[in-house]
Amino acid sequence: MPAKKINIAIDGPAGAGKSTIAKAAAKAFGFIYVDTGALYRAVAYFMLSRHIDVNNADKVASYLCDVVPELKYIDGEQHVFVNGEDVSDKIRTPEVSMGTSAVSAIPRVRNFLFDLQKKIAAENNVVMDGRDIGTVVLPNADVKIYLTATAEERARRRHKELTEKGGTVSFEEVLADVNKRDYNDMHRDVAPLRQAEDAALCDTTNVDLQGAVDMLINIINEKLQAESAPLSPST
Ligand code: DC
Repeated sequence: MPAKKINIAIDGPAGAGKSTIAKAAAKAFGFIYVDTGALYRAVAYFMLSRHIDVNNADKVASYLCDVVPELKYIDGEQHVFVNGEDVSDKIRTPEVSMGTSAVSAIPRVRNFLFDLQKKIAAENNVVMDGRDIGTVVLPNADVKIYLTATAEERARRRHKELTEKGGTVSFEEVLADVNKRDYNDMHRDVAPLRQAEDAALCDTTNVDLQGAVDMLINIINEKLQAESAPLSPST
């Protein structure tokens, strides 16, 4: 029988640095990094490119049987494909982000992507990041981490990134956007974002990127070692 795969679940709000930090941790352990947000984005991209109203749950659901999302790893990087097209870059636009927020709240979309996420985790050692990985997709994950930072800090990082790219959006607008996304993710009826009871909290508000990666690696190491430690003999 093939050896059981190690599954590490990382959840948290938008802008906490999950993908960068999780990717670095996955590399350190030689595991594959699975960005599940990209799968939701691929579904939104499919719908938007066919002019399907992403707020019409029945309509979106009726097209799901035509969607073929796939994750492939090219030179160690995750690429997301939909119906054979590599959409890894195209899914990062503000329009797709808004559409993704809508489609990810549709229960039939979540069910549709559930099996694919489970299959990837059953077949590979993974660091999987998202919103409901530790609570819904991989409730038996070996390690669960809830990675967060205050809304102000996440907005500050995002604002810096946008300004460096030449954007002129104000900090207040970015903060309002962060708060809105948090609200949507935490208050939807199905699989809302929340910290799993058995997840370790990792707050990166006052920690730089390398510090956050080190924190994550330490948590993973400790949990994996504790799991494999022999039970102490009862006396
Ligand atoms: O992590 P991200 O910004 O790429 O996520 C895009 C959207 O998908 C965001 O609105 C939350 C949603 N999402 C989700 O509902 N469940 C996941 N496991 C991953 C992302």
